[in-house]
Amino acid sequence: MALDKPYKDIPGTIIFDAEQARKGYHLNQFCMSFMKPENRERYLADREAYLEEWPLSDAQKQAVLGLDLNACMREGGNIYFLAKLGATHGLSFQQMAGSMTGMSEAAYRDMMVNGGRSPKGNRLKDLDGWTPPEPGEKAETMRENPPARFTSALFTSHVPAIGAAMDLGKTEEPYWKKVFDGYTWTRKWMKENTPDVIILVYNDHATAFDSNIIPTFVLGTGEYYPVADEGYGPRPVPDVRGYPELAAHIAQSVIQDDFDLTLVNEMVVDHGLTVPLSLAFGELPADGEWPCRVIPLPVNVVQYPVPSGRRCYELGKAIRRALDKWDGPELNVQIWGTGGMSHQLQGPRAGLINEEWDNAFLDHLIADPLGLTEWPHLEYVDEAGSEGIELVDWLIARGAMDDQFGGGAPVVDHRFYHVPASNTAVGHLVISNPVAVPGKDAEPASEDVPEPAHV
Ligand code: DHB
Ligand code: FE
Repeated sequence: MALDKPYKDIPGTIIFDAEQARKGYHLNQFCMSFMKPENRERYLADREAYLEEWPLSDAQKQAVLGLDLNACMREGGNIYFLAKLGATHGLSFQQMAGSMTGMSEAAYRDMMVNGGRSPKGNRLKDLDGWTPPEPGEKAETMRENPPARFTSALFTSHVPAIGAAMDLGKTEEPYWKKVFDGYTWTRKWMKENTPDVIILVYNDHATAFDSNIIPTFVLGTGEYYPVADEGYGPRPVPDVRGYPELAAHIAQSVIQDDFDLTLVNEMVVDHGLTVPLSLAFGELPADGEWPCRVIPLPVNVVQYPVPSGRRCYELGKAIRRALDKWDGPELNVQIWGTGGMSHQLQGPRAGLINEEWDNAFLDHLIADPLGLTEWPHLEYVDEAGSEGIELVDWLIARGAMDDQFGGGAPVVDHRFYHVPASNTAVGHLVISNPVAVPGKDAEPASEDVPEPAHV
């Protein structure tokens, strides 16, 4: 199921998409270095030596040395990045554009003065036999036997003190044992059902993103993500390996599905991502690696307005459509939703816990996710505390499940609730698509879901 890339055939044109961006990542970052005068000077003094500082392919280096912008573009360069290279060589945009046309500088300038290049004969629609692409439709049913099998969703709180308890060897202390006992089942299950990749939805806690940039939905498209230092020193856990090919595929599909994700290649990951991994995989050897790859998906819940539950759920559906379009290697994929449950970390109301509301949330997440999407932000914050808003993250994972695409209801493998861990109510749920549990035909989810506490 090829992704929709009709723009690839436009004559004399290279469109810079996630695939090209991956190919040209270092080349483009090399060009960005020319925004500093000292780098321009060093480059102009010894171009080959400066190029050696960058992990570029031979083709990319040759393209740069020859100032061959067409070749740079083929190798993943983008004109706005390459312009910094051109500027370093004293070229104007007109000289750069003209250099790619095979025309002399004077002829190109004259053409522009005379009204520019005519679109006639230069368009996709002018090519023999071209037919317009069918308008894309959003799938509402699942693909049968997709190579990327979406097996299970896992939900959990991600309290930083849980990570600290593991890192400091306190898990057997009575206070913490009560928390970790809720994950014994999960750790065994994870060993037997280790996925190839986890799409891990969480919220960044003013760690990778601060008041400078506030992206609503970020998809990590990088190779790896270092563990952040949140002020206590980085947790002694491995850095996280990404899955750039799958992430680029998801980005392409999800953005074409009307979700304007922010794509990030380099970011640190905080407790929102590492604590759930630790909870599910347990302690790792000091020089160990996480047992699978992870595509981080941080959601802004720091600065309002934050995305609605409905929007999160719809993003989950878009991610599932993307997975169903994957034609790469066979993959066992899990989606995790993390954060919550009820907690308030600020002000005179700090310490708020709402067990009844949390359990109503879990009930609805299992059996009535669409109904849950109607719960407004006010409800989360008023009932579950200001930081309880993290729970919207969970709806992304839920929206991706089979039953939202005409498939069977998920099987509830494991459910756990405990108060407290630090300031927070710990909630944890593992649910699997029926196909992920051979021979276990899913019971349809209970019809009589209790009404949420708020209505
Ligand atoms: C706590 C919980 C969180 O989810 C968080 O991000 C930070 C702190 C806590 O309970 O201490
Ligand atoms: Fe949190």
